[in-house]
Amino acid sequence: MTDNTRVLIFDTTLRDGEQSPGATMTHDEKLEIAQALDEMGVDIIEAGFPIASEGDFEAVSDIAKNAKNSVICGLSRANFKDIDRCWEAVKHAPKPRIHTFIGTSPSHRGITNLDQEQMIERIQQTVTHARNLCEDVQWSAMDAIRTERDYLCRVVETAIKAGATTINIPDTVGYTLPQESADIIRMLLEKVPGADEIVFATHCHNDLGMATANALAAVAAGARQIECTINGLGERAGNTALEEVVMAMKVRRDLMPYTTGIDTTKIMNLSRRVAQVSGFPVQFNKAIVGKNAFLHESGIHQDGVLKNVETFEIMKPADIGITETNIAMGKHSGRAALRSKLKDLGFDLADNQLNDVFVRFKALADRKKEIYDEDLIALMSDSAANT
Ligand code: KIV
Ligand code: ZN
Repeated sequence: MTDNTRVLIFDTTLRDGEQSPGATMTHDEKLEIAQALDEMGVDIIEAGFPIASEGDFEAVSDIAKNAKNSVICGLSRANFKDIDRCWEAVKHAPKPRIHTFIGTSPSHRGITNLDQEQMIERIQQTVTHARNLCEDVQWSAMDAIRTERDYLCRVVETAIKAGATTINIPDTVGYTLPQESADIIRMLLEKVPGADEIVFATHCHNDLGMATANALAAVAAGARQIECTINGLGERAGNTALEEVVMAMKVRRDLMPYTTGIDTTKIMNLSRRVAQVSGFPVQFNKAIVGKNAFLHESGIHQDGVLKNVETFEIMKPADIGITETNIAMGKHSGRAALRSKLKDLGFDLADNQLNDVFVRFKALADRKKEIYDEDLIALMSDSAANT
């Protein structure tokens, strides 16, 4: 990659996201989400784990056949059978990628029953095999963060020599903190021969609520691919949320001078659709895509944003595709917000009329948690009937 400020967005909603217990999506839903990710400008779509089931294989292969601009990637463990199955599924894509991984930390080596040297050999053989099938090969050191640093350098060097073009450094259990996330990428770039020839990826989980911060720290240290999911969907506490890292880099260009290919105006619609098809609703106060992320209810905030929107908003709702009003009417709302809201609904009131409606609005808001447009229209009809 020539432009060193460009960060690739690798979306794994359809693979790591779908691994959330209960988030299974149908074949058609996966195709629809993949198409939307492609249209939104996602660079790489991890479409599934082809060996996991016949359904996963079919989904990855149909997504590959329908891909337009995105690279289509499938996941495979470190064995030839998985890698061959993955290739069979992704090979239909205009830009296919094989992603193969192995757990490199002491506990994961214990599970695979491989000592350090045997694992090096396995990585060498499997990455070489993948590279003989496909030009674009990503290799992941699962649980990289808890892998001994010297050994991590050795496995990464092995994968690069065997032909991996992207090296992913996952925080599989969401254990790291920003400082460490950055230090590891910096260390690999400094110590591993050939590290400047490949792309380093960061893949964070959110067990300590650090996934976004850790991903951004890795980018600041030199990683150029962020692995993420829509709404942060993913195993346990989820993965890095695509909308958070993309908007953080857009809003804080001064501190994070990087670009992505994402059309951010498509974020909100896709977030809503992923919530629907996965059955995982988005929490109201979720950053960027939560129902309340751009809503103002208190009188002081409403008055502020009506006079100058920058008082309480650091980004424009339209930038992520929100077209609805940013004013929530409730018992904390003030006169300015009520006047503005009624004006939007077609009622332009004189001061004395507004006073009367405001008193009745406050009485209603004390009884009712949320005030909808219909409630305000009903208040106005009562008011007309009483005059
Ligand atoms: O979290 C993880 O380590 C993964 C790998 C399979 C990349 O999802
Ligand atoms: Zn993961």
